[in-house]
Amino acid sequence: MTEARHVLAIDQGTTSTRSIVFDAAGHEVATARREFAQHYPDKGWVEHDPEDIWRDALATAREAIARAGVPVAAIGITNQRETVVVWDRATGEPIHRAIVWQDRRTAPLCARLREDGAEALVQERTGLLLDPYFSATKLAWILDNVAGARARAERGELCFGTVDSFLLWRLTVGRVHATDAANASRTLIFDIHRQCWDAELLRLFRIPEAMLPTVCDNSHHFGETAPELFGAPIPIAGMAGDQQAALFGQACFRPGMVKSTYGTGCFALTNTGATAVRSEHRLLTTVGYRLNGVTTYASEGAIFVAGAAVKWLRDGIGLITHASQTDDMATRVDNNHGVYMVPGFVGLGAPHWDPLARGLICGLTLDSTAAHLARAALESVAYQTLDLLDAMQADGATAPEALRVDGGMSANDWFCQFLSDMLRVPVERPAVLETTALGAATLAGLAVGVWPDLHALEQVWQRGRRFEPRMDGAERARMVTGWQDAVRRALLR
Ligand code: G3P
Repeated sequence: MTEARHVLAIDQGTTSTRSIVFDAAGHEVATARREFAQHYPDKGWVEHDPEDIWRDALATAREAIARAGVPVAAIGITNQRETVVVWDRATGEPIHRAIVWQDRRTAPLCARLREDGAEALVQERTGLLLDPYFSATKLAWILDNVAGARARAERGELCFGTVDSFLLWRLTVGRVHATDAANASRTLIFDIHRQCWDAELLRLFRIPEAMLPTVCDNSHHFGETAPELFGAPIPIAGMAGDQQAALFGQACFRPGMVKSTYGTGCFALTNTGATAVRSEHRLLTTVGYRLNGVTTYASEGAIFVAGAAVKWLRDGIGLITHASQTDDMATRVDNNHGVYMVPGFVGLGAPHWDPLARGLICGLTLDSTAAHLARAALESVAYQTLDLLDAMQADGATAPEALRVDGGMSANDWFCQFLSDMLRVPVERPAVLETTALGAATLAGLAVGVWPDLHALEQVWQRGRRFEPRMDGAERARMVTGWQDAVRRALLR
């Protein structure tokens, strides 16, 4: 048992990096946040500078600790998943910008592998599908396109990591090259049943084993921060990809419990306990968390654009100046007037998996207004969540007692009510909306004795507000049918 009772979470997301200090009751004590640059070097390409990621992680962590003014017992790291970083083992310098999970450049390679019949093996071992979303083909792209990279990787001179792994390396100043089972389960080269890197998949994607991190439990003593970074070493004791961290922070510890996080994208995860449920409806099977060597699996539906649709209304077409305006705009119109947005800006994820699909807005008439467009963007996220929950139930899940929501859009009351209406399931919003960071903090706190067990963590989760379904059935059916028509038009595959 340590004396310090506060835990720092570093939440490295797709568009921003946040560091939050939590107390033992799970309350936020201090927060620091920075947005960072997105690079779009070509159509469908998305990159981040790993030095930006490191700079902001360190700066926000220092800021949050200073603001909290208390000693920190441990650090938990949570991160945008699948994004690939490759760095020099000797200097720690990245050899290329990080290729982000949204990046579609490897769609042709995925299509080729699918034509060669590789998808069945991939799905069997990893629970994933052949889509550019996941890490392996992005990593292969770097090895094939950076001069000398493949030979250097084979000689063990390069390290591969997802963002958790890169941050851990930097925080320990190159002493630890590791990742956690949840992040590993998103790479396309990790066998989720045997819990190890898979030699056959490494051959398929042509990835040298010498560059891979060691895979550890999610709650684990990964290492200590170098003393010069925070004045004294701090144990790094928890790591998980952000969606798994949110599952943990939402205290979805029992099979059947489901959470949905609305960040850049939307990711719904159902806890399936010790069973890795193989999907027949193009959902993903993934590691929810691994504690003391015991894996809890999850069934996941991944949607690439949720908050990003609202960001596009603001930054892409200047329809709004602040995301929160959409709440008011959506309420201003009685119904959607037949206007639908399919936000396929980077293709469509589950359950369609069409990397070539593109966004569309349809049903416009001369009396359509900005409010209808804003409403269509919010509605699209709820319809996509419905598609995911329908696919989960088609795979055998029972309807959840409630959907636990978090992330930016879940602050929007109109959206939560509409979501509940479409799903016909109560939607529960926790008191602490930063459940991703809370999950990373609790994973770390569990390892150093701030919390003794999962039962204690169930008490940390507090409900903020519950939304009950209330829309008339015929009206709901009309809206869902309109959405299904719109999706059919957007699909290209
Ligand atoms: O799989 C991608 C996911 O981890 C990104 O999450 O919160 O940055 O949209 P977010």
